Amino acid sequence: SGLRMSPSDLARIERIIVAACGTSLYAGTVGKYLFEEFADLPTDIEQAAEFRYRNPIIQRDTCMVAISQSGETADTLEAVREGMRKGATVLGICNVVGSTIARECARGVFLHAGPEIGVASTKAFTCQVAVLAMLAIAFGRARRLSMDEGAKRVAALRRVPDLARAALEREDAIRKIAEKYAHAEHCFFLGRGIMMPVACEGALKLKEISYIHAEGYHAAELKHGPIALLDSTVPVVVAVPDLPGKIKTIANMQECRARGAPVIALATEGDAEVRAHADDVIELPPCEAFVSPIPVVVAEQLFAYYVARAR
Ligand code: F6R
Repeated sequence: SGLRMSPSDLARIERIIVAACGTSLYAGTVGKYLFEEFADLPTDIEQAAEFRYRNPIIQRDTCMVAISQSGETADTLEAVREGMRKGATVLGICNVVGSTIARECARGVFLHAGPEIGVASTKAFTCQVAVLAMLAIAFGRARRLSMDEGAKRVAALRRVPDLARAALEREDAIRKIAEKYAHAEHCFFLGRGIMMPVACEGALKLKEISYIHAEGYHAAELKHGPIALLDSTVPVVVAVPDLPGKIKTIANMQECRARGAPVIALATEGDAEVRAHADDVIELPPCEAFVSPIPVVVAEQLFAYYVARAR
């Protein structure tokens, strides 16, 4: 039924809780950056099973955003029920129309991404991120986001299809790189800031469809243990578009290469700084920071697809 929230309802919300599982949880984590940046709303990310079995704190002015492609994931559904019992305003972001979560939330947004035929959630992720961006803009406009800033962000969202198309046009290059590393048995994905959940999603997609052991990490977390696992047989895929924090991520790339691990960078086209520290580069078009997860994840999805094909 749509949001069914007036601007004053939106302005009354003081905190967001995102509850979801798997890919939907990673999309929600991207959303956290947007809710905080556009709308100054503190946002907690809750694995739905954790949320439902704990005794979560929900205040009257909490908005719970339940994200589920299928609208049927049991833990997310029970998290929705618990959120409602405790008085939260609960929104559903679902793909499947008529699904249980969509019906029980009674307010929210359908993705209309089309059916996810395979196991892997792909176009649902990109649509979830787009809807979360729209929600963050809507919350922001009811608060401190100016009309001008809101309009700029909407214009950036309208360019997303071009960004996705540009990422798809890299298919040949991505296939070659995927074939080069398809023999690996372990793979790491790194990113920082908004690229951290994007790295986790890249790892999830790779393990899910290629059966390679893959782990997604915050780039800064690698040195706190997992770096011990790196050697020349463990490629590291780094989501490092030209965003704040890039220099720090380049330092992490250097640490990986110092252990002999090949580095595959997902970077902004023409970025010589990144190229100097990578073995392979997948170039993506420049874009606003908040939409950058979309082209990067499309490239990761293609990478996972071609590794799976090669194996
Ligand atoms: C990954 C994948 C799963 C789902 C998860 C939640 O490609 O498909 O991780 O994202 O099972 O499913 P939904 O979004 O339907 O609640």
